[in-house]
Amino acid sequence: MNNTANAADAVQHFIQRRLHIVFASTSGHTEYVVDVLVDSLKSIASGWEIEETTAEIAQPQDLLRGDVLLLASATWNNEGIEGQLNPHMSMLLHDKARALDLASKPCACIGLGDHRYFYTARAADHLQHYVGVHHGRLIVPTLKIIDEPYGQEEAVSAWGKKLLDASNLAVGN
Ligand SMILES: Cc1cc2nc3c(=O)[nH]c(=O)nc-3n(C[C@H](O)[C@H](O)[C@H](O)COP(=O)(O)O)c2cc1C
Repeated sequence: MNNTANAADAVQHFIQRRLHIVFASTSGHTEYVVDVLVDSLKSIASGWEIEETTAEIAQPQDLLRGDVLLLASATWNNEGIEGQLNPHMSMLLHDKARALDLASKPCACIGLGDHRYFYTARAADHLQHYVGVHHGRLIVPTLKIIDEPYGQEEAVSAWGKKLLDASNLAVGN
């Protein structure tokens, strides 16, 4: 390998990629899943920075920040209708960022829910739908967490590994 190739290799090695997680959580379940995911990625995702933003404070342009966007939300019954996104996520995606173009951005989604509701974890479908309609690129099948997330840590970590592999492929690492 010549010096130029070595230098290019070194630069590549030090490029920090960023995974931006935008999430909404009311009773803390989605936040817990995000925490477990981030903890599991820390040991294996060298070269990746992870940034978290809550849907409450996120602005449309925030969805474009970073190399990979992860949206996470539980399912709610806004205005009495079951199977909706968390109200803050709904406000962000369906109101504030309704005209956003994700421009082929690599994306992933996590949806939570409870089996006792007819529209179980429908948030996952809403998030995926948003990504598709707004020209994002889903790089890994969506993770659904049904019922309390406590005890489902292994599923979250295993999905995190798939997300990391797909993210590396998507950004050319
Ligand atoms: C008022 C209310 C409405 C809900 N509606 C649904 C629903 O329609 N479908 C579903 O699968 N889960 C529903 N859930 C369950 C939540 O999605 C689930 O408890 C989730 O883990 C909460 O995550 P969070 O604490 O991050 O908000 C509802 C929960 C509450 C309290």
